[in-house]
Amino acid sequence: MTHHSQPQPYEGVRSGPLEGTLCVPGDKSISHRALMFGALASGETAITGLLEAGDVLGTAEVLRKLGVPIERLGEGHWRVTGRGVGGLTEPKGDLDFGNSGTGTRLMLGVLAGHGFAARITGDASLSRRPMGRVLKPLKQMGLQVLESDRVTLPLTVRGRAQPIPITYTLDVPSAQVKSAILLAGLAAPGETTVIEHEATRDHTERMLRHFGAILSVKELAGGRAITVKGNAELKGRDVVVPADPSSAAFLIAAGAIVPGSEVTVDGVLTNPTRTGFYVTLREMGADLAFLNERTEGGEPIADIRVRASKLVGVRVPPERAPSMIDEYPILSVVAATASGTSRMEGLAELRAKESDRLGATAAGLAANGITARVDGDTLEVDGGANILGGGQVATHLDHRIAMAFLTLGLVTQKPVAVDDIAMIATSFPQFTKLMTGLGATLRPSASG
Ligand code: S3P
Repeated sequence: MTHHSQPQPYEGVRSGPLEGTLCVPGDKSISHRALMFGALASGETAITGLLEAGDVLGTAEVLRKLGVPIERLGEGHWRVTGRGVGGLTEPKGDLDFGNSGTGTRLMLGVLAGHGFAARITGDASLSRRPMGRVLKPLKQMGLQVLESDRVTLPLTVRGRAQPIPITYTLDVPSAQVKSAILLAGLAAPGETTVIEHEATRDHTERMLRHFGAILSVKELAGGRAITVKGNAELKGRDVVVPADPSSAAFLIAAGAIVPGSEVTVDGVLTNPTRTGFYVTLREMGADLAFLNERTEGGEPIADIRVRASKLVGVRVPPERAPSMIDEYPILSVVAATASGTSRMEGLAELRAKESDRLGATAAGLAANGITARVDGDTLEVDGGANILGGGQVATHLDHRIAMAFLTLGLVTQKPVAVDDIAMIATSFPQFTKLMTGLGATLRPSASG
């Protein structure tokens, strides 16, 4: 999964109205989980709408190395033959997670429930990302890290067939950490509880129940306690993966800011733990509608339609951050086009993503003539019309920085160039094709 190819510099160019109705690929979070939970179930799991992008294909490859038969039956249609909780087998060779933090952290939880050693590697971006947040609870559950105090990849870990059940309060609002603990808890004798003070995405809870795990959620004053019963038996199930709201966000943002546009993205996941970006767009004055609201595979979905409109700056409160944590780069681009200043608070976690997204976003805005200020965990963006553009944006192996700044270029006076679009394939390989299909001009750039 590590990419060694030449960088592919690209640019977004001022474009006329965008128009069209389209589909985006399956949700990345749900896709990773469908493969992993299918692997831990007994019997077969059939998945439709699986995201076929680098990060998820990487998870499938890792599961195969751990003895799980996984077949691709057609586009987005996959079959996993489960091995049962604790049923994975010792891998030959390293488990390479490429660029994927979700794959790594969730699988660390799975591996904590298996009594063999595995060495975990990733690309340069993933190798800089913090793993201590997940190792800390998993070590309490009995996971050994052979490199003792190391907290970044590469790491060799050895789990145990019977991890120790724990009660753990998250010190960062992270669905990945929550999920890792619950996954380890499946194999533990007894109950494992995770307490979170801010609600993070709840796909693990929903899908574990779908697979037959016994899980309870208790609302607390200022948080929730999620308890999973150990020695769990999961049953293979069918999983339908809805379209990824974090991918749709780029197309919807483009439709909101390019004058005269109307864009509809069909069948998008509208789970409230994921829709903070859409809530914020509405507050900015976007003409946004959720049409045909319905349920698919235990998750709410809708067709999301946007028409370009005049936007105003907004304050985004810190408690909204978990529900739009991956959308701040593209929201910052939208904010740059709005009248007035936008203020986004509580962004500490952005520094721990595929890049330091707070720094990368501020630098990309500045390179294109937009005034942005970082003050602690707050980002302020001064918006306005007639953005100069013409900047070169460093993407730091971060797909979402690349997609956000290509989108900015659709409304700037001069094109906006990004140094490399290769990483877009980790989450949304169809991005440039779908954007150009709507009428956007995206093209290779000479510089980079
Ligand atoms: C994810 C959780 C979020 C998010 C990531 C996917 C998940 O990370 O940024 O893209 O699938 O659980 P954190 O849990 O680290 O905030």
